[in-house]
This record gives sequence, C-alpha cells and structure tokens, in this order.
Amino acid sequence: MKVLVTGGCGYIGSHTVVDLLNEDYEVVIVDNLSNSKIEVIDKIKKITGKEVTFYQYDLCDKEKVEIVFARENPDAVIHFAGLKAVGESVQKPLLYYENNLISTLNLLEIMQKYKARKFVFSSSATVYGKPASLPIDETFPLSPTNPYGTTKLMIENILADLYQSDNSFDITILRYFNPIGAHKSGLLGEDPNGIPNNLMPYIVKVATKELPVLNVFGNDYDTVDGTGVRDYIHVCDLSYGHVLALKNKRVGLKIYNLGTGMGTSVLELVNMFEKVNNIKIDRQFVARREGDIDACYASNAKAKEELNFECKYNLEDMCLDSYNYVKNNINQ
Ligand code: NAD
Ligand code: UFG
Repeated sequence: MKVLVTGGCGYIGSHTVVDLLNEDYEVVIVDNLSNSKIEVIDKIKKITGKEVTFYQYDLCDKEKVEIVFARENPDAVIHFAGLKAVGESVQKPLLYYENNLISTLNLLEIMQKYKARKFVFSSSATVYGKPASLPIDETFPLSPTNPYGTTKLMIENILADLYQSDNSFDITILRYFNPIGAHKSGLLGEDPNGIPNNLMPYIVKVATKELPVLNVFGNDYDTVDGTGVRDYIHVCDLSYGHVLALKNKRVGLKIYNLGTGMGTSVLELVNMFEKVNNIKIDRQFVARREGDIDACYASNAKAKEELNFECKYNLEDMCLDSYNYVKNNINQ
C-alpha cells in the first residue's frame, strides 16, 4: 500500500513515516518545510534503511497536489501538514484559516478526482475546549477556543459533510492529546525555534541552559497540586496509532482520541524530568496563561477497543527521550 504523508518531515509525521516504513508501506512525503528540516529525510532513511519519495511542495498549491497524485497514485493519505501554534493563530487567524483549510480542501478534491479513498486526519483535543467532566470521550461537545482549534473543528465538519455526500470515502479523525518524547535513536524529535510555547520543549531548553527558568502558569487550579493537568503521550505511541488506523478494517467515518488516559500535572512532569535525567530545572510560579484549562485527559477506550491502540511508553520514557533528542542535536 502506498501512503501519502503530508507534513511527514514534522514532529509527529516523521515518527509515523518510520513506523510505516518498518511495516513495509511505501511512503511519499509532501512537506513545504515551513516548520521542519530536509535533514529529516536522511534521518528517516538512517533509522529504517528504506527510501522515501519526497516533494517539497506547498499543499495550498492545488496544481502541485495534483502532480503528486498523477505521479504517485497513493492509496491512502495521512494528513499532518498544518500550522499548530495556538498563540500565533490568535495573532494571525487568516494565515491559519488559509493554510490549514485550503491545503485540506485541495487534498480532498484531488483525492476525489484520483479515487484515493482512505484519509487519516490529525485533529486535536483542543476541539473539546473546556470539558464539563473528565475523562473526555469522543462524544463530548466541541467548542474550540482559538483559531487553530477552530480550523481543526472546521476540517472535521468538512470531512463529515464529504463522507455524507460520498460514503466511499474511508475517513479516520484522530484527536491527539499532548505528544512529547522522541525517537529512541535520538535522530527524530521536537526542537522548536525560539521560545517554545509548550511545556516539554520549554523544560528541555531550561535543561540545556538556553532558558534560565521554567515559568509554571498558575498554581491555583483545581488539580492535585494546583498546576495544570494534561494527558502526555509518547510520540512513538501516537505515531503507531496511525498505522493502526490504516489497518483498521472498519470503514466509514471514525473518530478516536489518542491519549494515555492519564492526567499529569506540570509539577509532576517537571519532577519526573529532573529525576530521570538527574538534572535540576529551576521553576517559578507565574500567573495563569490566558485560555488554559485546569485539566484535560482522554478516555482512550474507543481507540483501545476498535484500533487495538495501546501505550507502551511511560512518563519516564517521555522525559528521557525528549532530553536525549535535544542533547544529540543541540548544535545542528
Ligand atoms: P509540525 O509543525 O512538526 O509538522 C507539520 C508539518 O507540516 C511541518 O513539517 C510543516 O513544514 C508542514 N506544513 C505546514 N503547512 C504546510 C503546507 N501548507 N504544505 C505542506 N507542508 C506544510 O507539527 P506536528 O506537531 O508534527 O503536528 C502534526 C499535526 O498534528 C498538525 O496538524 C497539528 O495541528 C496536529 N496536532 C499536533 C499536536 C502537538 O502537540 N504537536 C497536538 C494535536 C494535534
Ligand atoms: N505550561 C507551563 N509553562 C510553560 C508552558 C506550559 O506551565 O512554559 C503549562 C500549561 O499552562 C499547561 C501545561 O503546561 O497546564 C501544558 O501546556 P502545553 O502548552 O504544553 O499544552 P496545551 O495542553 O496547552 O496545548 C497543547 C497544544 C495544543 C493542543 C493541546 C491538546 O499546544 O495545540 O495540547 O493536544 F491542542
């Protein structure tokens, strides 16, 4: 089976490409490298010993998308490509709507033309907004609180309408919780430019002394220790969820949460990072970050039941692997 992976040079996409190659899928990547580096292609080859076909194209260019389908005729598409920074999406909403929506519309239109039917989409727990209770299951009401989240919900709605109009499509929507960690090889991982928005990349930059101190946003939440609780999932468990989605024999429009089902507070994560890496992370409490919620964690019962999804890695692995990746790549 030939799989087109959009955004395959990015954080989650690159790990998924490794899994796909290890399972003998043929892989074609389209990525405009707006948030990733070309070196990832060589690293994927180094890890797997296998080749991938790569197109440095922007999916917002429909003619380019068509060139890929005409040449490659993929059987399935896993669509990771998109912009993902919540804060930036508030500053630049039009950029987010344009990039995330146009790229997806182009893909779906060309898939329809070339009769490619299997589509796996990267959605996010952010579509749930502030949940009324926990854990969050797939039937919870959806109410994103920022333009980035709204693009995810809009795409979910587009997919539902498309499926309604043409039920030969086979669509899986995966709602990710908080991916962290990195590939065990130390070759693939997440190392954002500038000051990170997300917790684990920030902790790692304090560990490498690129940043002096971790700001913990709020210590008065209604949680175990007052700090925000999230469902952190190792990127390698998350990536394998995409292979399971391709293997799933159920056809139709399906939605799954991908999380561990376990909530971890900011302090619990920082303390675990210190312990397993034997390093001190200076931290200070500051005001809550606007728009943050107390706690968010998944019910992953549906993914377990229907996809045989399971999490093999624990919080210790996540902390070790995140730091290991950045230590290996610090001067690149
Ligand atoms: P990432 O930024 O590392 O990867 C996305 C890739 O898409 C990048 O390599 C980027 O260059 C590429 N891209 C962006 N716009 C493109 C376009 N128009 N044409 C071609 N390529 C384009 O992000 P990630 O963390 O790997 O996330 C992958 C997907 O998962 C995204 O859709 C993101 O919204 C979603 N998601 C991520 C998280 C998270 O915390 N990382 C959580 C929930 C959902
Ligand atoms: N936090 C800090 N200090 C920091 C960064 C984060 O204390 O410097 C706290 C936050 O307040 C929150 C927790 O750490 O309590 C996690 O924050 P992240 O920014 O790492 O993750 P979020 O849950 O806020 O959001 C992320 C992505 C979203 C995605 C969501 C669910 O940024 O795009 O996970 O998948 F939708």
